[in-house]
Amino acid sequence: RQLDEVCLPLFFGWFLLTPAQDQLRSTGSDFLTALDGFKKNAVGSSVNEGQEIPLEQYFKGKRSLHCTTKFCDYGKAEGAKEYAEKPEVSELYGSVFDLAVSALFVTPRTFGARVSLTDEQLVLWPADAEKEAESSVPGAGSLPLGSRAHITLGCADGVEPVQTGLDLLEILVLPEVEPVTDLELGSLRFYGEGRWMLELKEPMCAAACFSSFYK
Ligand code: A2P
Repeated sequence: RQLDEVCLPLFFGWFLLTPAQDQLRSTGSDFLTALDGFKKNAVGSSVNEGQEIPLEQYFKGKRSLHCTTKFCDYGKAEGAKEYAEKPEVSELYGSVFDLAVSALFVTPRTFGARVSLTDEQLVLWPADAEKEAESSVPGAGSLPLGSRAHITLGCADGVEPVQTGLDLLEILVLPEVEPVTDLELGSLRFYGEGRWMLELKEPMCAAACFSSFYK
């Protein structure tokens, strides 16, 4: 085996710098508290299926916050080598970017933040990221490139983080709905089946380093 095959990471992505991680965790926690408060008065909209535990405890998330670009699985994932060999990947490796966090969402499975990528950032986005999700989320393949970009903030017990991006796509393929309320952070929409999305009034700017992760 060649050295570069052996060295492919678990995944490539943008890793939030500590201040951005702290800020996003804090905004995320404010959102969960506000959503818990709102749900108390809303009918038929349970996220955690009648469980009384606060959302903050329902979602487990201790890892460092990042936005995955390409999941490589140490080279076993389809297209991993091709991605790692892209000139943009080596040119931009180690660079810091300002990611725009535009929304927060929760589903019965996951809690995440939506990232709106710029054209400059999209050069690092795999062309098949949305198409690859088509079998789990019908219609995902027709969404614009970068639609799946997200930061996992937490997962319910027994749920793998890969689910967060799929849950985001599942919301994005649905027809747009009217907000159910305006919270301090932005407008809150309900998509049925315990799916909520808060569009931030002010998108959050999160400084993040493009790099890779090995477990
Ligand atoms: P995410 O990017 O939503 O956080 P794990 O710890 O399960 O091995 O995953 C490592 C990282 O790679 C996580 O951040 C995870 O989800 C992402 N990931 C895992 N599997 C996939 C996949 N099949 N496609 C895309 N991203 C994945």
